[in-house]
Amino acid sequence: MEKTLPFRELIDRSLTRRSFVQKVTSSACLVALVQSQDHADGAEVARPVEELFQFKGVSISNADSVVVPEGYVAEVLYRWGDPIDGISPIFKSDASNSAAEQERQAGMGHDGMEFFAIPGSDPNLRGLLAINHEYTDQVLLFHDGIDPLPPAKMPLEKVRKSQASHGVSIIEIEKQRDGSWRIVPSSRCRRITAETPIKISGPAVSKIGDSVRGTVNNCAAGRTPWGTYLTCEENFHSVFGTKDRGFEPTPTQKAYGLDANGFAYSIDGKQVPAFRWWEQLDRFDLSHPANDSERFGYVVEIDPMSPDSTPIKRTALGRFRHENAELTVAEDGRVVIYMGDDEMEQYIYKFVSTDRWGGEILREDPSSMTSERLQAGGILDRGTLYAAQFSEDGTGRWLALIPGQNGIPSLTEDPKNGFDLAEICVRTREAAKMANATPMDRPEWLAVHPHSREVYASLTNNKNRQVANAANPRTKNVFGHIVRWREKDDNPASLEFRWQVFIFGGNPSHPDEKHRGSAKGDIFACPDGLKFDPTGTLWIQTDMSSSVMGKDRFAELGHNMMLAAHPATGETRRFLTGPTGCEITGHAMTPDRQTMFVNIQHPGEPADELSDPLAPQKYSQWPDGPSGGRPRSATVVIRRTDGGVIGD
Ligand code: FEO
Ligand code: CA
Ligand code: CA
Ligand code: CA
Repeated sequence: MEKTLPFRELIDRSLTRRSFVQKVTSSACLVALVQSQDHADGAEVARPVEELFQFKGVSISNADSVVVPEGYVAEVLYRWGDPIDGISPIFKSDASNSAAEQERQAGMGHDGMEFFAIPGSDPNLRGLLAINHEYTDQVLLFHDGIDPLPPAKMPLEKVRKSQASHGVSIIEIEKQRDGSWRIVPSSRCRRITAETPIKISGPAVSKIGDSVRGTVNNCAAGRTPWGTYLTCEENFHSVFGTKDRGFEPTPTQKAYGLDANGFAYSIDGKQVPAFRWWEQLDRFDLSHPANDSERFGYVVEIDPMSPDSTPIKRTALGRFRHENAELTVAEDGRVVIYMGDDEMEQYIYKFVSTDRWGGEILREDPSSMTSERLQAGGILDRGTLYAAQFSEDGTGRWLALIPGQNGIPSLTEDPKNGFDLAEICVRTREAAKMANATPMDRPEWLAVHPHSREVYASLTNNKNRQVANAANPRTKNVFGHIVRWREKDDNPASLEFRWQVFIFGGNPSHPDEKHRGSAKGDIFACPDGLKFDPTGTLWIQTDMSSSVMGKDRFAELGHNMMLAAHPATGETRRFLTGPTGCEITGHAMTPDRQTMFVNIQHPGEPADELSDPLAPQKYSQWPDGPSGGRPRSATVVIRRTDGGVIGD
C-alpha cells in the first residue's frame, strides 16, 4: 500500500520558514533580515532582503546552444579530445584519434571540477582546473562506433581508448587581455585514467590491498583546505562484467549493481554491454578471482600541483556510487565530508575525521615531488563514517557505521557476514542498510553554506518510489527535490540535526498536487549539481534525463539548466540553459568571481543513450557546428562582457 505523506506541510512543519530564516540570518551575517518579523501585537512587517544576485534570468530553452543572461558570454574552453597542453595531439573530428593520443587529450563526459590557484601567480588570471570525465559514449568515441558487436571481442585498442577517456584532467589556464581564457602548455598538465597507478589507503587496505590501477566514472568532486582535489567514483559497476555466462553475483556484488553486462545498450532488442573491458582485461571480469571490483567506488585524492604524485583512494570515506565530497572543518579541527550515493533508495553519508586539521596551508615546493599535500590527506584515513536517518518530526540523526553498533554485526557476532572496519569501508551500502538509514531519492551533490553551515542535498528523482518517507515524501518522484538541514549547535560533527525540504522540483502549477513544484521564481526539475559561491548564492544544475526531456510535463522545462537560488528567500533565477540532450554539471569560479567554469556533459545524447555512428550530429552540433563531426562534452567559461562580478 502506498503511504502518502502531506509533503507540502513538511516545508513549514518542523521548522517554520521564518524561524529557519532567522536562525540562518543570525549566523550568516551577510543576509539582511528576511521576509518578516513578529511584533508584540502579532502583526508582521516586511523587511528588506539582501539581493544575492541581480542578473536578468533567461527563459526555458530548446536551442542547441548555451544561453546566458544579457551582458554575459559563454565561451568553449576545453572539449573532449582537446590536448591537455593546448597544442597536441589535435582532435580528429571523425574520432580516429588513437588510445595513446587520447591519453594526452580531454576525456569524455566532463563533470565535477575545481579551480586551484598556483603559488606565485594571480589566481584571477591563472590557475589549474581539475576536471572529471565521468563516462564515455561508446559510439561517439570511435571512428566506427561500437563495432564489432559480440561475440566478436572488443579490440584492445578500443578498450584502451575508452579507459583513457575516463578519469581526470589537470590543465593550466590563463586569462587573456580580452577577458577570454586559454589553455597553456604546463609541466603540471596531466591525465589520470583507468590505467594510472593509484594507492589505496585507510581501513580497507587489509582486505583489498594498497594499490590498484585506475579511477573510473569520475562524477562530481570536492577539495580540501590543504590544496588537493577529491574525485568521486560513481557508476563503476558499468565497466565490470564477465564472459562467464553462468556467472551469479554475490550478495555484495548485487548490492552494488555488479552484473554480467555492466552498462548495456539496447540494440535490436538485445542488451549489448557497452564497455566490455573484461573481454581484454581480466581485472574487470567479475568471475576472475582477483578482479578489481572492490577497488573501485571510492573518493580519490589527487594533488594537482605535483604531476608525478600518485593519487590515493581514501577508503575510510566508504565505497558506494559516490557523487561528490563536500568538505568542511569543525571548530575543533575535525574534517567533515558530506557524500551522497546516487542510486534510488540509497543513502546520504558523512565522514568525521579522528585527527584534527591545523589550518596550515601547505607551501608549494616545485622541486619536491613528495607531495606534502597528499601526506596531509592522511587525516582522511582515520575517522567514523555515518549514514543519515531523517525522522518525520523534522529531526534527524547520524548513525555510526561501526561493527557491533546500530544493528551492524561485528565479525565476532557473525563470523560469516559480520563486519570489521575494512568490511564497513568495502560493503558500506550493506552496513548503512542494516543501520536503518533513510533510503533517499537518488542523493546527488551536497553543499555546505559558507556562513550558516546549513547543508543542502539534491535528490534528483526516483520514479520507482512506492513508499514515501518524511524526507522523500513523493511517490513516483519524477521531478526531484532539495533537502537542507542544520547540524545541532551548528557543529558539522554533531550527531543530530533538524531538516526541511528546501524546494520541490517541477512546475508549481502542475495539475497533480503530488507533482507540483515549489520554486519561488524560475522553475526546474531534477536538481543534481549544487554549489555555493562565497556570497551564499546556491547554484543549482539540473539533469533531466534525455529519456524524459521534451516529453509530457517535461516539455515545459526545456533543456537542462543552471539557476541561482537564494537560501533565505527561496528565490530561484535561471542563469544558463544548455544545448540539446546535455546535462549541466560542474562549477568553479576564480576568487574575484569574474570567471565561472561550467561543464556541458553529453550534448546530443539520444533518448535511449545510443548514438548513431552514421549520424553523430543527429541531435546536436554543439559545440563545433556542422563542420565539427560530432557533439563533444566541454568546459565553458562564463564571464560578463563588462568584466564585472558574476551574479552582481
Ligand atoms: Fe554522476 Fe549522479 O551523477
Ligand atoms: Ca551528477
Ligand atoms: Ca545525474
Ligand atoms: Ca551524467
